Amino acid sequence: MIAATDFIPSAYSQTIDKGQFQWSAPSNIALVKYWGKKGNQLPANPSVSFTLNNCKTITKLAFAKKINTGDFSFDLLFEGKPKEDFKPKIQKFLERIEIYLPFLKDYHFTIDTENTFPHSSGIASSASGMAALAMNFMNLERTLNPEMTEEYFYQKASFLARLGSGSACRSVKGEVVVWGNHANIQGSSDLFGVPFPGAIHYNFKNFQDTILLVDKGEKQVSSTVGHDLMHNHPFAERRFTQAHENLDQLITIFENGDLDQFIKIVESEALTLHAMMMTSIPYFILMKPNTLQIINAIWKFRNETQIPVCFTLDAGANVHVLYPNKVKEKVLQFIQDELVGYCQNAQYLCDEIGVGSVQH
Ligand code: DP6
Repeated sequence: MIAATDFIPSAYSQTIDKGQFQWSAPSNIALVKYWGKKGNQLPANPSVSFTLNNCKTITKLAFAKKINTGDFSFDLLFEGKPKEDFKPKIQKFLERIEIYLPFLKDYHFTIDTENTFPHSSGIASSASGMAALAMNFMNLERTLNPEMTEEYFYQKASFLARLGSGSACRSVKGEVVVWGNHANIQGSSDLFGVPFPGAIHYNFKNFQDTILLVDKGEKQVSSTVGHDLMHNHPFAERRFTQAHENLDQLITIFENGDLDQFIKIVESEALTLHAMMMTSIPYFILMKPNTLQIINAIWKFRNETQIPVCFTLDAGANVHVLYPNKVKEKVLQFIQDELVGYCQNAQYLCDEIGVGSVQH
């Protein structure tokens, strides 16, 4: 089994004074949710997600050798302009990953980042952002150590991304990504995400995710606070066990393409995530009235048409509408006719399953 210490490098064979890389990484949508952590950014239960394609962060990393004065040195640009409020998060990320990338204090970095989705759309950019940054840092490490294998490159990128934001480790590589030890998924690890190794039925090919923007406001509960709510939560242990069971069922569903069973697991996971927030101390309701309107409208539409469309939620009010590619036209029409009215400023984003990070 791979241990965190396996990602501490020995001496590098190459040097480089300056240069730049550019990588993009997408967001992802969890089917079995990560909610609760232990130790150093390790998940309390395994999760699985679809990698998205259109909602992504594009990050350019420029680096120039400097004298190591014992501090990190970096500028942070968001859409080309300096963005001071993002810096503490990056500083913390660098501190966490320094032992795995011992060259970090030898360079001055300019991190220039932008998202393809609207700013403050209520869509978390931490997953795509941390993954894109981790890819760039790994590109630099691979330049210093060209012998590293492709497998090590992606595993360590995911490992680093995880230290920035847990769900970011699922945005590095693969269409369906598992993060967290699961007895029946070979290669699964708490340390990094891995492409789901089993068979995936044609029904999930080009699977669609339309994100309905119900509430674009600042997150009511930060993810750090949210995960913390699972400590001493009365239902925590049962919930963690349930995540293992749901993932076990999904292994079969991915293989046989049973969309009815898929819907049951995915919607139950979304509501369980919110149930955990409603039953923690302090407690939160993160759904809005329009979130419930949308859920009910989806259920009615599904009952009436038998079209296999379902929803999932993150830790907020926005709704991800999930459906197979073959019913795309009908579902988009339904969204336009019946769901757009529940979105803030009628806004929604069309996305679909994608492959992960890409070098530009
Ligand atoms: C509800 O990955 O944002 O989206 O590790 O603290 O950065 P941190 O948390 P984060 O949590 C995401 C939680 C979730 C479910 C999921 O994506 O699995």
